[in-house]
Amino acid sequence: MGCMAFSHGYGKIPPEKYSIEAIQNAYQHGCTFFDTAEVYSPNLAGIGHNERIVGKALRDVRENVVLATKLFLNRSEIGRGGSVYDAVRRHLEDSMERLQTGMVDLYYLHRTSGGVSVEEVAEAMGQLIEDGLIRGWGLSQVDVDVIDRAQKVTPLTAIQNIYSMVERDVESGVIPYCLENNIGMVPFSPIASGLLSGKITTETKFEKNDDVRNWVPQLSKANIAGNQPIIDLLKEYADKKNATSAQISLAWMLHKYPNVVPIPGSKNKERIIENLDASNVDLTDAEFTSLESALNKCKVYGHRGFSR
Ligand SMILES: NC(=O)c1ccc[n+]([C@@H]2O[C@H](COP(=O)([O-])OP(=O)(O)OC[C@H]3O[C@@H](n4cnc5c(N)ncnc54)[C@H](OP(=O)(O)O)[C@@H]3O)[C@@H](O)[C@H]2O)c1
Repeated sequence: MGCMAFSHGYGKIPPEKYSIEAIQNAYQHGCTFFDTAEVYSPNLAGIGHNERIVGKALRDVRENVVLATKLFLNRSEIGRGGSVYDAVRRHLEDSMERLQTGMVDLYYLHRTSGGVSVEEVAEAMGQLIEDGLIRGWGLSQVDVDVIDRAQKVTPLTAIQNIYSMVERDVESGVIPYCLENNIGMVPFSPIASGLLSGKITTETKFEKNDDVRNWVPQLSKANIAGNQPIIDLLKEYADKKNATSAQISLAWMLHKYPNVVPIPGSKNKERIIENLDASNVDLTDAEFTSLESALNKCKVYGHRGFSR
């Protein structure tokens, strides 16, 4: 695994100096895939906060890393006589300036909910690829029907959907489609917003009212208690493999699919390295099979499911 991202909305954002060092440490540890978005900012209230930090941290090593960012697009931005291409390009140029780069490797439409058809966006993305301003493009929180419509216009590079041991909807349709069509799958919230690390208990309190973990269904007291068999299962494998529970949850999906590149989020330097080291936790086929079959017997509480 060579990827990381910064969780937004999960508690206090560290000082910029710490964030830059954390990104640079990750790079030095072998991380080459960085995921951000124009909206990642304190409480998602500003534009470009995280892109600026990523840009500063990686400007000296830009050619060695893959940068992914995302835009929201609304029909109202396009205006009379304007085109979808012009609107997408405006977002992209702003992101490129903040990221201190002349090209974005992977540019996602963050959600398809803005009243612009996915075919129109796909066409604009195809043009931006031809312009040499992006290398590839992706969609986030989409089902197979939307992916297929987009793919027919401009072949996709990656799909970024929620996926973890407690959010497995993508296994039935999206991942098989991606495998068949040579599309990467980038799971977000791969450790279920921290639940699968085993470090969150029924006693954990998220202090701020605006910490999104107060609303993550799997992190309610009742659902943490209900999901305890999954947390115990991860602990059992963590002990067996001399790893952490978070690492086992990532190693599980890395073993399961060749096209999956998870982006665990953390604001903590040590945990970022811990998560990257999940790529060194090799489950044997037998270990994976018994983990998978035990997991399949566990009921999941607080499943979020597919939502745009
Ligand atoms: N496309 C989308 O719509 C979308 C939506 C949500 C997220 N994302 C992306 O996906 C990334 C990851 O998703 P996420 O942040 O929602 O969920 P996540 O990676 O499943 O969990 C992040 C949470 O887990 C904690 N954590 C991380 N590693 C840990 C470890 N080893 N041990 C204990 N706790 C650990 C973090 O706390 P600390 O910070 O304290 O370590 C943070 O609170 C985000 O950063 C973002 O880039 C995309």
